[in-house]
Parts: sequence; structure tokens; C-alpha cells
Amino acid sequence: MRERIVYFAPADTRIKRDATSMNAPAKTDEFVAQPAAAKVPDGVYAETVLAVEHYTDHMFRFRMTRPAGFRFRSGEFAMIGLMVGDKPVYRAYSIASPSWDEELEFFSIKVPDGPLTSHLQKIKPGDTVLMRKKPTGTLVLDALTPGKRLYMFSTGTGIAPFASLIRDPETYEKFDEVILTHTCREIAELKYGFDLMEEIRNHEFLAEIVGDKLKHYPTVTREEYAYQGRITDLIDNGKLFADLGVPPLDPAVDRGMICGSTAMLKDTKERLENAGLTEGANSKPAEFVIERAFVG
Ligand SMILES: Cc1cc2nc3c(=O)[nH]c(=O)nc-3n(C[C@H](O)[C@H](O)[C@H](O)COP(=O)(O)OP(=O)(O)OC[C@H]3O[C@@H](n4cnc5c(N)ncnc54)[C@H](O)[C@@H]3O)c2cc1C
Ligand SMILES: NC(=O)c1ccc[n+]([C@@H]2O[C@H](COP(=O)([O-])OP(=O)(O)OC[C@H]3O[C@@H](n4cnc5c(N)ncnc54)[C@H](OP(=O)(O)O)[C@@H]3O)[C@@H](O)[C@H]2O)c1
Repeated sequence: MRERIVYFAPADTRIKRDATSMNAPAKTDEFVAQPAAAKVPDGVYAETVLAVEHYTDHMFRFRMTRPAGFRFRSGEFAMIGLMVGDKPVYRAYSIASPSWDEELEFFSIKVPDGPLTSHLQKIKPGDTVLMRKKPTGTLVLDALTPGKRLYMFSTGTGIAPFASLIRDPETYEKFDEVILTHTCREIAELKYGFDLMEEIRNHEFLAEIVGDKLKHYPTVTREEYAYQGRITDLIDNGKLFADLGVPPLDPAVDRGMICGSTAMLKDTKERLENAGLTEGANSKPAEFVIERAFVG
């Protein structure tokens, strides 16, 4: 089962996998914030970094061990952290791996002076990352009422919760069609999304389950690219639907999940509400759900 994911980008503009391997140690400065075992705070998991891949100066992904007994629903986030000096620094992170995976994956921004990511971007295999024990979040299948087509609208690192959900067989049990949109400023920032598609296509059991149900729609806003523009504009001018060959948003069949900046959430939510979809939550499932990719 090969080449069945539908890409909405011509082959020559797709991003080719470079020589960087998930298993290769990251080429970074020496990381000095690795905690000694004795310093790990009580009540948190201390996990081992297994692999790091740097995509751009702004984004990287890493995988780490999964604690025995740690359960989460695909799409949820957890608080992860590092000891910086004597103090732990935690931030919310979507778990990018699916709930069945034996390891945990995260996709991260690098904020140059960020209290966490100025250190986190230097981790190497063997380092320790802390994780609080309770995951949570609204971007879960349980928060949506049944539908036929699931849209996942993401910008930047907002793709992370969807990296989890597109690798979860339950998503394809519940929906006939899954559309992942990913909009970034630059082409290089789309690469994680393309890598995910390749992984699914080559995966021993996901390739069969996903088949041609998953459509990947990457767009760029600050460089020339085959698919260009903010997702909100592409909804407004109908290009998104024309490119995908699907009818406009319809609350009878379409469901949505949105993850991006506060402004992107507000503007995308407005489009879904104008189309007649209502916002849901864990406690009250409805037609779409939202979650911030970051604060600020
Ligand atoms: C529910 C939730 C889930 C999150 N999931 C992720 C995730 O999967 N991956 C991830 O990289 N971040 C995620 N974040 C953001 C994350 O919590 C941190 O803000 C980020 O790791 C930077 O931490 P910092 O301490 O270095 O800088 P902070 O002091 O936390 O942030 C400094 C500034 O950097 C910018 N910024 C922070 N995070 C991002 C981002 N992801 N994309 C673009 N700009 C950003 C904002 O302007 C912010 O004010 C999530 C946030 C929330 C609320
Ligand atoms: N390439 C970079 O320079 C880079 C990369 C990563 C992070 N950063 C830093 O990290 C922060 C966030 O950057 P980011 O690129 O991850 O996130 P971002 O600013 O939210 O932009 C991500 C994508 O979302 C689009 N977007 C922004 N507002 C939107 C809205 N209201 N509706 C629909 N789409 C919207 C952007 O389009 P527009 O281009 O039209 O705004 C861009 O394509 C910034 O402070 C930035 O300096 C910079």
C-alpha cells in the first residue's frame, strides 16, 4: 500500500528528506541543564531523550521514553520541562505521537530567549526531560459529534496535536475523510508535515488503515509556493475547497479542529461559525474544537 495519501502540492515543491536522521545526535552546543537524578522533583516523570531532529532555526522535534502507566488521548497536551539551575521550568506541549506509541514525540519551537526552549533546543539523546503526570486538552475525538469529514486547521507548531491524531486509527474509524491543513511563513517550516505523511505511507499497519482518507494541504504565506495564503483567506475565496474537490463547510457532515496563534484561532473559528458549526468541549461535544498552539 503506497502513495495513497493525497498531497496538495506538486511533487517538485515537496520538501525532500535531508541527511538529518531522527537517530543522529543533534549538532548543538553542550547542554548544561541536564538534571542529576537526585534533583528530579517529586511527582513528575523523568524521561530519556531518544532522538532529536532539527528542521529550521525555529523548529525541531524530539522523541523520548514513555513512562510505564502514562495514558493520554491522541491530541492532548502535557506539561514538559527541564531543570534550569535548581528550578524546574515547565511549558504546555501537545503530545505529537499517537496514544498507541511506545515512545513520546514532541514538535517544538525555538524561542531564542525563551525560559524553556532556549535550553530545550540543546537536548541530545540520553538527556533527561521532565513531564508532569496529567495530560489534558480539547483537541480530542471525544469532543466532536459524529461526522463524515474532519478538518484539522494548523499553523506553525499547531500541527503537533494533529501529528498525534492523524497517526491514530480511531480517527479513521470515526471519519471517512481527514484533511490536515498546515500553514507556515516559510516552505522549510512545512517539512515536519511532509515527514509525517511519508512515515504514515511507509508504516506497516497505518498505511492500510489510512489509505486515501488523509489529505495534506500545506500552504505558505511569506514565500512563493504552489499553495499560498492564510487558511482563512483560502476558506473565504473557496480555493481550499476547490483544490480539495470538496463542497463548502457543512455542519451536517463537517467537523473541525483548530490549533494556532490566538489570532488564527479567532479568525478560523469565525469562518466555521459563519458556516453554521458550533464549538464543542470535552463536557459538551459539538462540531468543532480549538486550542492555542502558544500563548502570546
Ligand atoms: C495548550 C498548549 C500547547 C502547546 N503545545 C506546544 C507544542 O506542541 N510545541 C511548541 O513548540 N509549543 C507549544 N506550546 C507553547 C509552549 O508552551 C511554550 O510557550 C514554548 O515551548 C516556548 O517556551 P519558552 O519558555 O521558551 O518561551 P515562552 O515564554 O513560553 O514564550 C515566549 C514567546 O514565544 C512565542 N511562542 C511560544 N511558543 C510558540 C510556538 N509554539 N510557536 C510560535 N511562537 C511561540 C510567543 O510569542 C511567546 O509569548 C503550547 C502552549 C499551549 C498553551
Ligand atoms: N520564520 C520565522 O521568522 C519564524 C518562524 C517561527 C517562529 N518565529 C517567531 O515565532 C513567533 C510565531 O511565529 P510562527 O510563524 O510560528 O506563528 P505565526 O506568526 O502565528 O504564523 C504562522 C502562520 O499563521 C499565519 N497566520 C497568522 N495569523 C493568522 C490569522 N489571524 N489567521 C490565519 N492565519 C494566520 C501566518 O501568516 P502571515 O505570514 O500572513 O502572518 C503564518 O503563515 C513569532 O514571534 C516569530 O518571530 C518566526
